[in-house]
Amino acid sequence: MRRFLLALVGTAGLLSAPFTTVSRAEDPLLIGHYGSLTGAQATFGQSTSNGLKIAIAEVNEAGGVNGRKVQLVEYDTKGDPKEAATVVTRLCTKDKVTAVIGEVASTLSLAGAPICQAASIPMISPSSTNEKVTQQGDMIFRTCYIDAFQGLVCAKFARDTKGFKTAAVLLDQGQAYSVGLAEEFVKNFKAMGGTVVSQQQYNTGEADYTATLTAIRGTSPDVIFVPGYYTDVANIAIQARKLGITAPLLGGDGWDSAKLTEIGGKSIEGSFYANHASPDDPSPALQAFVAKYKDEYGPTPDALAALGYDSGKLLFDALKRSGGKGGKDLAAAIAATKDFPGATGSITIDANRNAVKNAVILELKDGQPHFVAPVKP
Ligand code: PHE
Repeated sequence: MRRFLLALVGTAGLLSAPFTTVSRAEDPLLIGHYGSLTGAQATFGQSTSNGLKIAIAEVNEAGGVNGRKVQLVEYDTKGDPKEAATVVTRLCTKDKVTAVIGEVASTLSLAGAPICQAASIPMISPSSTNEKVTQQGDMIFRTCYIDAFQGLVCAKFARDTKGFKTAAVLLDQGQAYSVGLAEEFVKNFKAMGGTVVSQQQYNTGEADYTATLTAIRGTSPDVIFVPGYYTDVANIAIQARKLGITAPLLGGDGWDSAKLTEIGGKSIEGSFYANHASPDDPSPALQAFVAKYKDEYGPTPDALAALGYDSGKLLFDALKRSGGKGGKDLAAAIAATKDFPGATGSITIDANRNAVKNAVILELKDGQPHFVAPVKP
């Protein structure tokens, strides 16, 4: 494994003032990242960070952005919105970063976005899909699709590909992502002639799903839509099987973690989810990233790692075009991004500062996600 990456990035919270002997133009360009590096969504932040660090190493190896090296300042949100707000404030006011990458979970991006907007510091969420994230202002961007599309993709798969007539929905009421994606799924599933037979809720980290799953079992749905995050989804799958429910589960990108099958084991086999990319995709850009990632870290990257990488690459491309300037100049350069060749596909930023991109449907088989079908916007 190549360890050189570690030498190129700053340690969270320990960043010292730049040396006064170098001229201003040679000071490093500071880029902030806020992500859940610990907690129930830890793999989200870790994967994003790993991918982003590869993008930083690449730009620095190639001489930096207009001669300036890029340096990362990274903080852990622990999956908590209050913590997210605190660290984003620190990035904007103390560290004075040029741009912010993050978060993954939409609720956390919604906590950070208004702070970046108020400070006029462009923020790029690699993977938050809730519509409202980029609506926080003209400084806020994302490099992934939105949940209106993801909900449609899931409904289409359930109705057209699988022929499911009835669905139950089990959503995380504390997560903007989960609530929004459930809404989009229900709307589309019904419009396609499907019937939603039960709608239940839970809270992140809940231990016992017996009551909600028993209610769902009574309605015998063809499929259970669970737009949650991987730790909860895995526990829901285990408890559903214990209660004798055999219907497959279906979800969105929040399932994307190696921990899903590690925790869920046999219970999650035969279930499906939508995602941003699949390592089975033969695209040369994705495969080049997969090879680099494995070389550096060992395991196959998840989609979050690829999106973390892409958000970094896209940001550095925009920074070169803004002449290294931040603020409105950088926001204009990001907004002008067209056909950027990302590992997760070609990225064009639309008028709402979102990326228009394909989705894939994956099936969990033999403990691994397998590519089932690509879906275009
Ligand atoms: N889309 C999810 C959200 O908005 C986050 C996520 C993206 C999780 C990709 C896993 C993979 O909260």
